Amino acid sequence: MQTFRTIKSLDQCLKGYRPAGLRVGFVPTMGFLHEGHRALIAESVARCDITVVSIFVNPTQFGPHEDLERYPRALERDHELCRTAGVSLIFVPNASEIYPPGFQTSVEPGPVAEPLCGAFRPGHFRGVITVVTKLFNIVQPDVAFFGQKDFQQCAVIRQLVRDLNLGVEIVTVPTVREPDGFALSSRNSYLSAADRERARCLSRGLFAAQAAFQAGERDSRTLVETARAQMMEVDCLQYLELRDAGTLEAIPGLVEQPAALCVAAYVGATRLIDNVLLTPPPAALSDHELELVSHAINRQATAGAEGPRSS
Ligand code: PAF
Repeated sequence: MQTFRTIKSLDQCLKGYRPAGLRVGFVPTMGFLHEGHRALIAESVARCDITVVSIFVNPTQFGPHEDLERYPRALERDHELCRTAGVSLIFVPNASEIYPPGFQTSVEPGPVAEPLCGAFRPGHFRGVITVVTKLFNIVQPDVAFFGQKDFQQCAVIRQLVRDLNLGVEIVTVPTVREPDGFALSSRNSYLSAADRERARCLSRGLFAAQAAFQAGERDSRTLVETARAQMMEVDCLQYLELRDAGTLEAIPGLVEQPAALCVAAYVGATRLIDNVLLTPPPAALSDHELELVSHAINRQATAGAEGPRSS
């Protein structure tokens, strides 16, 4: 495994692989890696010839009062996880490598970035897709891997790739969870033991709604209220919304298309997000939707063999 700090040195190395037609997988991260990142890397290693991981805490996706300064960092541990997970190359640029003096261009997302986190974190997705576009241009991967936990991020990046013809296949990997269902995140390290205990109610609520959906409930309001009833222990429920899984448009009445129930909440000073997919039975789906659902079900079945870790 080789580590690169500059775009030039990484590019020189990647140039050596390209003539051989090797399939390049890419896992962009902000570091402080955990088992969720390991699942992204494993997927890349399984599907690609070489796997590149970037570790860069991207300043442009943080708001002025957010946690950029205290975002957790553990570079040595990250290296070890990458090494044992089979990563080929790590790219660890500093901020001036990505945003040199005079930098002034960014990528503006469309309506898919407006609801949910977009409504509470102005400019966040502009920062995300600007850096993702830059990283895609630097690494030029065939496939890139993102976690389902950042559900809106996945939708915004898919839209980016479609709209700007970036030619990168986007793979969404199911959320990895603790045995009690709590979704893994680098920001979980901020939680005290008591807050961590309270934070369980988020996944409990999402799974309650998912169970109600699987039992036949289709009314979006009832499904949301089923989840909300479990989430009373958080300090501030920022949003809890059922959205179309592809467009992220609101679903006001009956859920008749693949949907995602998405939540963001503060527990203490820590902002947490999570989501579950609600997918109607295949008879109601188009061929394309059917393919998406059967893919999701296969993934859940594989993950289910390891316990309640994925959604
Ligand atoms: O999901 C993340 O860790 C970040 O938003 C990403 C995609 C690496 C861009 O900075």
